[in-house]
Amino acid sequence: MCGIMGYVGTRQALPILLDGLRRLEYRGYDSAGVAVLENGTVQVRKSAGKLSVLEGALALEPLAGRIGIGHTRWATHGHPTDANAHPHSDCTGRHVVIHNGIIENYVGLRERLQAEGHKFRSDTDTEVLAHLIEAEITKMPADLSDRLATAVRAAVAQARGAYAIVVLSADEPDRIVAVRMISPLIVGIGNGEMLLASDIPALLPHTRDVLIISDGEMAVIEPGRVRITDLDGRPLARTPERITWDAAMAEKGGYPHFMLKEIHEQPRALHETIMGRLDEVHRVELDGVRYPEGFVEQLDKVWVVACGTAYHAGLVGRWTIEHLARVPVEADLASELRYRSPLIDGTTLAIAVSQSGETADTLAAAREARAHGSRLLAVTNVVGSTLAREADDVLFIRAGPEIAVASTKAYTTMLVALQMLAVDLGLRREALEPARAAELLAGLRHLPVLAQDVLSRSGPVEALADRLARLEHAFFIGRGLDYAVAMEGSLKLKEISYLHSEALAAGELKHGTLALVTRDTPVFALVTQRAVYEKTIANIQEVRARGAEVIAVAYDDDREIAKHAETVLRIPPVDDLLAPALAIVPLQLFAYHVAVRRGHDIDQPRNLAKSVTVE
Ligand code: F6R
Repeated sequence: MCGIMGYVGTRQALPILLDGLRRLEYRGYDSAGVAVLENGTVQVRKSAGKLSVLEGALALEPLAGRIGIGHTRWATHGHPTDANAHPHSDCTGRHVVIHNGIIENYVGLRERLQAEGHKFRSDTDTEVLAHLIEAEITKMPADLSDRLATAVRAAVAQARGAYAIVVLSADEPDRIVAVRMISPLIVGIGNGEMLLASDIPALLPHTRDVLIISDGEMAVIEPGRVRITDLDGRPLARTPERITWDAAMAEKGGYPHFMLKEIHEQPRALHETIMGRLDEVHRVELDGVRYPEGFVEQLDKVWVVACGTAYHAGLVGRWTIEHLARVPVEADLASELRYRSPLIDGTTLAIAVSQSGETADTLAAAREARAHGSRLLAVTNVVGSTLAREADDVLFIRAGPEIAVASTKAYTTMLVALQMLAVDLGLRREALEPARAAELLAGLRHLPVLAQDVLSRSGPVEALADRLARLEHAFFIGRGLDYAVAMEGSLKLKEISYLHSEALAAGELKHGTLALVTRDTPVFALVTQRAVYEKTIANIQEVRARGAEVIAVAYDDDREIAKHAETVLRIPPVDDLLAPALAIVPLQLFAYHVAVRRGHDIDQPRNLAKSVTVE
């Protein structure tokens, strides 16, 4: 998830671009860059690191010009280096591109363009767009009006993926061309000037009149004019909207808290995690994961290490990998692994799961595993993090920056990353039938739509939060994968609501904890695993017999469950192996709404930090 900014008008572009990028800072970044058209030449300045590094360089040598584009990068392809920072230019340096998103088919496009003689200077997927535009412009008659827009349309027609791209060209010095496909893009309408940004806060100092560009639309901005077309160049009539949010609300996309924004970002984040990694049949292509010849066949153990929410995702990974790849899998809390004298060696695959890639306990466990000779695979969100740099293989979850301390979209994207990893290992070890793999991959592809569906059902969750806001104790129960989700649901509630909650394997209740169950302890029962359905119902009966209110999370087609629970939070039916990413969503929403009703600091709960860099 990157930050995008564009300006064309009568004022100097550079200060406006830098101010906009600063306002997009909350999106996180690892490098930044600008391009300004100065005396007919496109001048690019970019550097790795925080925006302040670029600002420092520009303070010494400013750029003068009334049209320009700027970008802060959150890396998805290629390390955060100067060369990989945006903007990217074509071979001539006359056309430059900034991009937010992923070009799925960039490898093939890059090979073709290189064969045609184009010279690449970065490892990014974005650079193919600059060369594609150059190739298209070269084919066009010099007197064609709107050459740039036509070339950009022809270029994006060849690219697959999710993107918002913004293009500046020395050939058309009064206009900027932008296209949106899935990634956000907004035009700000000023007085004799036009702006572009990936989010509203960057526009607010200049205007409150905006046009939200939709998927498959192109915007061409000029000093006093904006034209919106579809990708065939047909004009579209659009009416600007007036933004009434204050700056703090705008940063959160209109949501009152980052946590709620991030919960709602899950469909898009899941889509990005999967993108370009599953083919139409049953193969999985995990960029960044390259096992040595024979390693997977000889693998005799997988060891998952992580902390907190990432550990809960790791538990789902353990279950799924063991089930599909038929290899023993252990999952350990990273802070515990070292004291176990773990039996790991060169035939072990250690999987370290961490959103930040900087959690001290996880890094220590990962290093321990490597010291024992095992191969280290990182599942992480942050390109350039310590974990990503130290691992042999890295699978990025592509969740985009997660700002709320309580992790939500990182959890669900970790689940999907681990599920893809499990299918891949299963296929490589010939433990998984291709037809079953195809079924699971189709299910994974469909998850973003189903997650959106679950999000649209927040009404009953809010009503439940109204009723249970003053709750003091809660239990979460489930079997198998439902138990792993119960642990995450319980942690979410604890960390932002500050109430006591405990997750238990449903079958374990009767071995002690049942003594605590009364009419004042609601029990959340996860009931998505069909193979253990009857058994979980029996456990629900045990708690109901002690007077507890039961809130079940169950599939839409489960007609039985309403007889056993006071409230049922429904999710659409899905393959049981893929249920966790949906079943957690109502529990995330419940935790959020209870904490709001209790008046807590949602995004920064007491005593907690986003990234725990001490052991
Ligand atoms: C809970 C939460 C924490 C983190 C844990 C590990 O919502 O966010 O439990 O999951 O501190 O952090 P990462 O994934 O960065 O290693």
